[in-house]
Formats: sequence, structure tokens, C-alpha cells
Amino acid sequence: MTAQLIDGKSIAAKIREEIGTAVAAMQAQHDYVPGLATVLVGENPASATYVRMKQKACAEAGIRSIGHELPAGTGQTELEELVRALNADPQVNGILVQLPLPDHLDDEAVLNSIDLGKDVDGFHPVNIGRLAMKGRDPLFIPCTPYGVMALLEEVGVRLSGAEAVVVGRSNIVGLPVAMLLQKANATVTICHSRTRDLAAHTRPADVLIAAIGRAEMITGDMIKPGAVVIDVGVNQKEDPTAKRGYRLVGDVEFESAVEVAGAITPVPGGVGPMTIAMLLKNTLRAAELALA
Ligand code: GUN
Repeated sequence: MTAQLIDGKSIAAKIREEIGTAVAAMQAQHDYVPGLATVLVGENPASATYVRMKQKACAEAGIRSIGHELPAGTGQTELEELVRALNADPQVNGILVQLPLPDHLDDEAVLNSIDLGKDVDGFHPVNIGRLAMKGRDPLFIPCTPYGVMALLEEVGVRLSGAEAVVVGRSNIVGLPVAMLLQKANATVTICHSRTRDLAAHTRPADVLIAAIGRAEMITGDMIKPGAVVIDVGVNQKEDPTAKRGYRLVGDVEFESAVEVAGAITPVPGGVGPMTIAMLLKNTLRAAELALA
């Protein structure tokens, strides 16, 4: 059996097009377009690439993006002052502080200083707390987990009562995606680097989310036949035949997994494009809330 490929690239393109249409309507009706402020501290090349991609996607959807690039040595007070200025700016609907921040900065304090109504990353502790609580909902859902849930919806998988296993417990993906799956009434297991027998946990999973950051760690023999597999990992693997000397692989070994799973996301072209689409969706929502 060969799994259905979940084409995140085309699903994300459809969402981005819908957002573009909604932004144009907002401009026509209110003479106002959503604005996203991006804050990049230091010179992490991967972070710089992600921020550039986010700004480009904003431009394509008609969303204004305002980039702030600060040197690696920026102090805590200076960064929080910038966030407060952005909180007060009516042209800014969303504030995205790209993570990770340099080690000397306290990311929790920075995220805490973002206005809840502008927290389009959904990383503010209050938003995360609401995500964790029964009967409460966050104002914004973190973008990558939101994208994962949109892909699951697109596949039409029934989450209620399903066994869902999340491999990885990061604040950005593993933890929030587990909470979202729980909200959708799945029975959720979170595995991580200290889990003793990973395969014993992954094999019963109807839905398997791989977000551990280890190249091709999940192999076909660890997957239940017919399971839906969402691969959040983006890892570089040496490949002398590739132009850059490496290629991108996920946390799942695609070649063996595709023979067992019912549906699977590729890397690249699976979850990655969805993160950006959901950021635009959250930014549009922030602008709608500001206009309401
Ligand atoms: N670093 C990795 N993913 C993300 C994300 O979705 N948002 C921010 N702000 N930083 C990240």
C-alpha cells in the first residue's frame, strides 16, 4: 500500500488565496489593511530565512509587513520597549518575535510583553494557558500546530476517540499540538527523548505527529498500517548529489513510512507551508478584531 500524500503546499496556497481576497475586501470596505510586525534579533540564518518568507507571504496576500532587525547584542529592556511601541501602534495588528532569541534574552518576558490581541504566534502564556484549559479557547492558535490541525481536517480524519501520539514536547509545536488534539477529543500520548520504548507508543497511533527534530527517526515499522502521519521535522541530511551538499528530510523516514501509512505529509511541502498560511490567517483575524 502506498499512502495518500498530503499536499501542504497546495492546501496552504488555497488558504493564502482566500486570505488575499479577504484582505482586499477589508481594504475596500474599511480603507485599512492588516499589518504584521516581525522582530528578528541576531544573525541566525534559519530564522532570517523564515522571517523573509513570512514577509514575502504577507506581501502576496496584501498584508503590510514591518520588519525590525536588531543586533545580537540587543538588551532585554530595548527589546521590550520595541514590543511596547508596537503594542501601541494602530497600524500593527500582529507582532511576531522570531524564536529562538539569543541566549542572554529572556524569551518568556518578551512574549509576556506582547499585547494579547496582537499575539499572532499564540505564544503568550495566557494564550497557551487557555489552550490547555477545558472550556477555554485562546485568542490565537500557534501557527504550526494550527497548520497541523488544518491538514488533519483536510484529510478528513476522525479525531474524536482516536489514539493520537505526539513525538516531541517543544513549546512551539509538540506541547500545543497535543493540547489541540486533546481539545478535539483524541486520546493523546506525548513521547520525547526520554521515552523508553518509542515504537511501543507509536505503533497503536491512528494519528502520529512527529516533531522531535531528529532526522528520519520514525521508521515504517513504528507506524500502524493506515495511520495518518504528520511530519513537522525539517532536518538537513548530507547528500553529495545535492547542490548544497545536503537535502531536507523530516523526522519520519519517508521511504519506509509511505508504504505503511494511510496518509502522510512530505518534507518539504507538507507542514512548512501551512505555518506561514496560518500566520497570515491569524494576522487577518487580529485586524478583524481591531476593527470590530
Ligand atoms: N521559531 C520556529 N517557529 C516559529 C514560529 O512559528 N514563530 C516564531 N516566532 N518563531 C519560531
